[in-house]
Amino acid sequence: MALLDVEGLRVTFGGLHAVDGLSTSVREGSIKGIIGPNGAGKTTLFNAIAGIQRLSQGMITLEGRRIETLKPFQRAKLGLARTFQNLQIFPELSLIENVMIGCHPKAQASGFIASMLGTPRTREEERRIEATAYAKLALLGMADRAMSLAGNLSFGESKLLEIARALAADPKVLMLDEPIAGVPASEQAPIARMIRQVNAQGVTVVLVEHNMRMVMGLCDEILVLRSGRFLAEGTPAEISSNPEVIGAYLGQPLEETVDA
Ligand SMILES: Nc1ncnc2c1ncn2[C@@H]1O[C@H](COP(=O)(O)OP(=O)(O)OP(=O)(O)O)[C@@H](O)[C@H]1O
Ligand SMILES: [Mg+2]
Repeated sequence: MALLDVEGLRVTFGGLHAVDGLSTSVREGSIKGIIGPNGAGKTTLFNAIAGIQRLSQGMITLEGRRIETLKPFQRAKLGLARTFQNLQIFPELSLIENVMIGCHPKAQASGFIASMLGTPRTREEERRIEATAYAKLALLGMADRAMSLAGNLSFGESKLLEIARALAADPKVLMLDEPIAGVPASEQAPIARMIRQVNAQGVTVVLVEHNMRMVMGLCDEILVLRSGRFLAEGTPAEISSNPEVIGAYLGQPLEETVDA
């Protein structure tokens, strides 16, 4: 059974169908790539799945449960996490604070009164959240810099930090919108490694990226969109040799790709 399933999804802006009757599914444990030209609807699809963009039609199912009417935080609680195409980190907060923002407090211990009073339960909760955030930073090899300001990070490190924050809630599905866009080539490999590692630990990944080397190297399956519509779906080998995809997006057949 698919972990995440989208059926007949449509998102309309004025007269424009940014996503137009799209159906696809994401297998548990896989890395699924979504590619397509600028304006194809990739980010809009993410927004619709995450619940920050209203659908005009369609169904979204997570683990067999319909989620398209749920609020974004409810979907997050069920296991969806995402990063944004434009970097969203807080430069004046420390690395650990940036990651802690992504941690879910356990409902019973997070009451307003309890946190005002600083009861043992909330302190314990804070320690739990901090430990989770440290663990995510350690995954990046950044635990030793937990207290330094995020503003001091390079762009590539900032993108990694953003992924760590998305992981802080221990999601089932991690949706990454262009994780290496604008990242210098020398800083791309750690991000690809991180994605692979996170996936190896059981997190299903949905990856939007224009860097074909990364997409072809990392993904098990790729969906190609054009003008909000399904153009093709298949393995990296199938997609990189599909004449329609080459015509609409890739331009020319890809060379052998290097493992990310
Ligand atoms: N909030 C909005 N209001 C109106 N139109 C929008 C809005 N968001 C996106 N669009 C339009 O919807 C279409 C799909 O945009 P989207 O950002 O999803 O594309 P994309 O595939 O992510 O492109 P890119 O590769 O450039 O990030 C585009 O034509 C875009 O101009
Ligand atoms: Mg986009």
